[in-house]
Amino acid sequence: MLFGVIGDPVAHSLSPVMHNRAFAETGYNGIYVAMNVKNIRGAVTGIRALGVRGASITIPHKIEIMKYLDEIDEMALRIGAVNTVLNRGGFLKGFNSDWIGAMNALKEKTSIAGKKILIIGAGGAARAIGFGINSEGGKLTIANRTHKRGEKLAADLGGEFIPVAEYRKPQWEIMINTTSVGMAPNTEAMPVKATWFEKNMVIMDIVYNPLNTRLLIEAGKKGCTTIDGVSMFVNQGARQFELWTGQKAPLDVMARIVRGALQKHRRSAID
Ligand code: ATR
Repeated sequence: MLFGVIGDPVAHSLSPVMHNRAFAETGYNGIYVAMNVKNIRGAVTGIRALGVRGASITIPHKIEIMKYLDEIDEMALRIGAVNTVLNRGGFLKGFNSDWIGAMNALKEKTSIAGKKILIIGAGGAARAIGFGINSEGGKLTIANRTHKRGEKLAADLGGEFIPVAEYRKPQWEIMINTTSVGMAPNTEAMPVKATWFEKNMVIMDIVYNPLNTRLLIEAGKKGCTTIDGVSMFVNQGARQFELWTGQKAPLDVMARIVRGALQKHRRSAID
């Protein structure tokens, strides 16, 4: 069975290494490749013609692909983006595994229901995670640099909006960074000040390059529980694997190979 990630760019995607390792571990007869695609409509025709069993969809195609699919799962419709396609005999169904990946990453360390949760950012990732938190019964606040965008997402999610600049005292139990702030090469940057953290908070970052972002390092120093970006990435991949194969994903080996690949990347970047 053939699988792949469809996006532009995809050269540095860690999905091939993760899914091929999962296939090898479970004995599933699959192979997963990176496909750099500009024409998403043509790619969907290709999936049908070639009998590609499943695909991960990434930037910039997560929204446009929706109009070429036969069915879209309810959460993916609500979020407004598809990152996973399952091909059942030419019938293509779209899913979003990001929200469930984020929820499972959180649940490895904390409960969600009734918790006061701050999402930093108001882009596509924030939207997927926000709908996930709503479905788990968390109490949401959105903080964003651009007020208009933050207010819109907060309204869509039925949560509150706070402008980042107007923050006063820590009041959240869980804080999630969905912006790219802190990503290499600007690794000294933080989306919020360290004064936002208090002991016993859970701080999650979706940035995984570097693995230990400054946000997570500072949060760790304050005694917070931290969740890194690999955790969400691997958990969303596990959901994809389960949709495609009907088997339980080997989460631990997937996490190990992704963490190893990231460390190797870093070494070769330094060399
Ligand atoms: P994605 O789909 O990955 O979430 P996106 O839709 O481009 O990406 O959203 C990026 C988010 O990161 C936005 O919330 C953006 O804030 P704005 O709405 O103000 O643009 C936020 N972001 C990106 N770079 C930022 C920076 N340097 N400082 C603060 N926020 C930033």
